[in-house]
Amino acid sequence: MTQAADLLDPAERLDLDGLRALQLERLRNSLRHAYENVPFYKESFDKAGVHPDDCRSLSDLSRFPFTTKADLRENYPYGMFAVPRERIRRLHASSGTTGRPTVVGYTENDLSMWADMVARSLRAAGGRPGDIAHIAYGYGLFTGGLGAHYGAERLGCTVVPASGGMTSRQVTLIQDLKPSVIMVTPSYMLTLLDEFERQGVDPRSTSLRVGVFGAEPWTQDMRREIEERFAIDAVDIYGLSEVIGPGVAQECVETKDGLHIWEDHFFPEVVDPITGEVLPEGEQGELVFTSLTKEAMPIVRYRTRDLTRLLPGTARVFRRMEKVTGRSDDMVILRGVNLFPTQIEEIVLRTPGVAPHFQLRLTRSGRMDALTVRAEARPDADAATREAAARSIVQAVKDGIGVSVAAEIVDPESLERSVGKIRRIVDLRERKG
Ligand code: DLL
Repeated sequence: MTQAADLLDPAERLDLDGLRALQLERLRNSLRHAYENVPFYKESFDKAGVHPDDCRSLSDLSRFPFTTKADLRENYPYGMFAVPRERIRRLHASSGTTGRPTVVGYTENDLSMWADMVARSLRAAGGRPGDIAHIAYGYGLFTGGLGAHYGAERLGCTVVPASGGMTSRQVTLIQDLKPSVIMVTPSYMLTLLDEFERQGVDPRSTSLRVGVFGAEPWTQDMRREIEERFAIDAVDIYGLSEVIGPGVAQECVETKDGLHIWEDHFFPEVVDPITGEVLPEGEQGELVFTSLTKEAMPIVRYRTRDLTRLLPGTARVFRRMEKVTGRSDDMVILRGVNLFPTQIEEIVLRTPGVAPHFQLRLTRSGRMDALTVRAEARPDADAATREAAARSIVQAVKDGIGVSVAAEIVDPESLERSVGKIRRIVDLRERKG
C-alpha cells in the first residue's frame, strides 16, 4: 500500500532530480545565511578556506567544516542565532546531561516549517485529520511535547496535551477520550503498558491504532513487543533539538523499513566518526545534518553522534536512515569490545521469562570493567525460569557480541521506570576508582 498521492506535500511528489535541484538552491542560500549572519560560521568557513560561493554541487558540502555540540556550548546562549533576538519566537533547550544545556531558537517561519514536518511525519505514520492524538512526550524545554503538539494540530488532529508523568491518569485519559494516535517515547509506552495491566484494562482493547515513538533508540524486537501487546502499528520518529526537534525523519507505516529523512529541509550525510570522511550510501557511520531552510539557527554539518546508515528511498523519494543503533556517547567499550544498549535490548526481548525492562550496570574491580545486565522477570516466571534466563542472556551476549557479562534477573517492577527518555546505563565505575 502506498499513500495516495493527493495526501502528499508537493515536495514529497518531486522526482529525484527535482529534489536535488531544490536542495542545491536551498543549500547555497543557507550557507550564505549562516556565513553572513553568524560570526562563528564566518570564522570557521574562513579558517577552512571555503566560501558559500564554493558550493556548486551538493557534494561540495563536504569541503565545509563540521559543527559540534561543543561549538554550540561555546556560543551559549544566543551566539549561534542568525536573526536579531526579537525575531525569535521560541526557545528550547536540549537534554544535555552534562555541562551547559544547548539553547535553540525558532522564528515564526521556523515554527511553521517544524509544524509542517511533524504533520508530514504523523501522516506518514498513518495519522489523519480528525484523529485524536494523545501526546505523552514531555512539554517544556524538551522539543518532544510542543513539537508533536503543533504538528498534530497542523495535520488537523484533536490534540490531548497529556505530557509525561501522572501515569495512572494517562490510562484514564486514553480510556475516556479515545485517541487513535499516541506520541510518546517507547520506554514510557512500556510504563503505560504496566499501568494498563495494573488497572486490569486490556491494553489491546483501547482505541489506539498507531504509536509514533522516538527520542531514544529502540529495536525491531521492541516494535514487535509494543505492537503485539497494544495491537497497534508502532513507527519510529527521529529528530534532535539542534536540527529542529521531532520530525527530522519518520518511518512510513506502510513499509516500516527505516526513517525517511525530510531532505527538502534537512540535508543528511553519514561520515566516518574518526576521520570525518563522507561515507557512501549503505555504510554505517555518524549522521551529520545541514539545515536548508532554517532562519533562526542554521546549522552546517552538525555532528549528531547518532550512528546509522543512509539507504535509498522506498515509500518516498527521500533517502532513509536505518533505525539508530545508538549514540557514540552511549557506546560501552568493555575490554575492547564495543557494545550498545540496543544490542542488549534485542537479547533481553528474545529471552523467555523476562520483561522488556533492563538496565546495564557498569562496575570496576581493580583495572577490569564489568557489566551486569539487570533484567526484570515476568510476573509468572518461577525461580528455574529466572535462572535459565540469566544463563541465556550471558550466553547470547558472549555469542552475539563477543564479551563476557553477568546477568541478574530481578523482581518484577523493581527497576526504575521511564517517564521520558530512559537511562539504560548506570555507571558505577568512578566511585570504585
Ligand atoms: O529527542 C527530539 C525528539 C522528540 C525526537 C520526540 C523524536 C520524538 P533531543 O532531546 O535534542 O531531541 O535529543 C536528540 O535523541 O540525537 C538521538 O540520539 C536521540 N533520538 C531522537 N529520536 C530518536 C530515534 C529529541 N527515533 C537525540 N531513535 C538524538 C533513536 C533518537 N534515537
